[in-house]
Amino acid sequence: MSILITNIKQLLQVHDNNVLVVKGKDMKSLPIIENAYLYIEHDTIIEYGEMKHCEGIEAETTVDATGKIVLPSWCDSHTHMVYAGNRTLEFVDRINGLSYAEIANRGGGILNSAKVLQETSEDDLYEQSIQRMEALIRMGTCAFEIKTGYGLTVDAELKMLRVIKRIKQESLAKITPTLLAAHAIPEAFRAKKEDYIKQITEELIPKASKLNVAHYIDVFCEEGYFDIADTEAVLKAGAKHQMRPKLHVNQFNILGGVALGTKYNALSVDHLEELNDADVKALKGSDTIPVALPGCSYFLSIPYTPARQLIDAGLPLAIATDYNPGSAPSGNMNFIVGAACVKLKMTPEEAINAATVNGAYAMGISNMYGSITRGKKANLIITKPLHHYNEIPYAFAHDPVDQVIINGQLKDIKNPEENFRI
Ligand code: NIG
Ligand code: FE
Repeated sequence: MSILITNIKQLLQVHDNNVLVVKGKDMKSLPIIENAYLYIEHDTIIEYGEMKHCEGIEAETTVDATGKIVLPSWCDSHTHMVYAGNRTLEFVDRINGLSYAEIANRGGGILNSAKVLQETSEDDLYEQSIQRMEALIRMGTCAFEIKTGYGLTVDAELKMLRVIKRIKQESLAKITPTLLAAHAIPEAFRAKKEDYIKQITEELIPKASKLNVAHYIDVFCEEGYFDIADTEAVLKAGAKHQMRPKLHVNQFNILGGVALGTKYNALSVDHLEELNDADVKALKGSDTIPVALPGCSYFLSIPYTPARQLIDAGLPLAIATDYNPGSAPSGNMNFIVGAACVKLKMTPEEAINAATVNGAYAMGISNMYGSITRGKKANLIITKPLHHYNEIPYAFAHDPVDQVIINGQLKDIKNPEENFRI
């Protein structure tokens, strides 16, 4: 199998060296080749360059990309896309004046989704979730982190992990699973949170580790959910099973989760709608990447992550969807790239870096994904005809994607029969 893409108006995110993450000022530059070609064999990027150097290269399939832009597929490093049902009733409750916290306190929110998921069969959960994901592949995302966290019992969390494992095995997309058992305190443990922590650390984590699916561990470190001591207990138990932290921190309140995350060598700390100088200090000199989730800020009408403060401090930043039924029911990375520019005051170059190479870094896969580099996986977006890549964030909520190449396979995303399974 070989594919040659010719006459590419702009080929974005081209790195001869295998760049793993882009930080601070460097995020402002997005290396491009104008009037380019790209050659793929099997699932791998083999060669690229200016059209004038394309002579003599032949492939089984040739795609003429005249007027179009080619870039690495989006890497969505924070999703909760395995869930059952939806929370449209709570959406209306919020429009009518209830807050996210008020809805959660009366048993809605995450607990509502957990109840529905517990009653949903494993096959049904798989079907709902993979359909959700395939709709997003059509919008240009080919790598997804997926969290558990709507099980909230040992059995239901393991059910979620098995569903994520099946998606990982059967889909052409790259999947990185994360165990987020500490997502909310289940009703049965309301008065004895310590017992739930014990269940997670002593029973669930060892059982999850045996499944050998999740190599990352997450905690919703937040008032009313899990405090610093709880979070640390879960991280310690995870570390015994080689699970690296990716944490929900500072969504509503600053509890010190950022410093705790860096202490435990978290791969990422996500949300950060609230941020203080101590957080920035903790991130400096660490390998932990901050992740902004502007879809959540948009949907809940909460502050946006102060991206400028992070980037201007020399830090890297990734952006992701947080796709979930409660706080961000959209997995559209094209919208996230637009929102990053409009609301986080990131330049298009910064936003595209944040959604490709840095997204891949926040999933631990940037050695093989997130840039146009020889030897990396051929996961690509071919856009509709555009004047410039700036149009991707500019025409917000439009879908710029014309075709995708996923794991080296060219897909006709307009064909409803097209599937993205191995
Ligand atoms: O990332 N913050 C915690 N978890 C999700 C929301 C989950 C939900 O409301 O179902 C988030 O925003
Ligand atoms: Fe989240």
